[in-house]
Amino acid sequence: MHGVARIFFLSSLFFGLAGLVLGNVMAATQDHGQLPTHAHTMVIGWVSFALFGLFYHQFPAAASGLLAKVHVAVAEASLSVLLVGLFIHYGGNDAIEPLLGVAAIVYALSFALFAFIAARAVCA
Ligand code: HEM
Ligand code: HEM
Repeated sequence: MHGVARIFFLSSLFFGLAGLVLGNVMAATQDHGQLPTHAHTMVIGWVSFALFGLFYHQFPAAASGLLAKVHVAVAEASLSVLLVGLFIHYGGNDAIEPLLGVAAIVYALSFALFAFIAARAVCA
């Protein structure tokens, strides 16, 4: 694996490990207050990012383009802000909400970019 594919896949392993640590802490303490943080870390950070990595590995032409580099940069940055923001929010700090909203919209835009890249690649 190289480039964008490797960045996505390696970071999915990191998010997966972090999300599982959080899940175990939630289970052990019987405090499920961070359920949304755990859930989004697992399903976006681990599952989606691993899929992005495998996709770009399978479609090297798509991975080598500028759009893929924009996708990985924006997705990694926005998800990181989103997850830290969720952790702070569900820790009881509402002041983080505007930043959370921006991160969520930017992540959604990065997914729209991926949808374009992937649809174009599979139809080529
Ligand atoms: C050692 C492994 C794990 C532990 C200890 C753990 C722990 C937990 C706990 C305590 C909850 C809250 C349950 C509730 O309050 O209803 C939860 C929810 C959740 N977990 Fe995990 N988890 C683990 C692995 C995973 C994995 C591997 C994934 C996904 C790939 C995952 C995805 C989710 C999701 C999506 C929810 C939210 C479910 C809902 O909305 O009801 N978890 N987990
Ligand atoms: C970045 C944009 C996203 C926003 C703003 C968002 C927002 C939300 C909200 C508000 C909830 C309900 C939380 C609650 O009341 O407990 C939720 C739940 C959930 N979302 Fe998302 N979501 C986003 C992206 C995603 C993506 C891309 C996935 C899957 C790949 C996903 C999977 C889930 C799952 C499994 C749940 C149920 C677990 C939970 O309650 O946290 N979300 N999401």
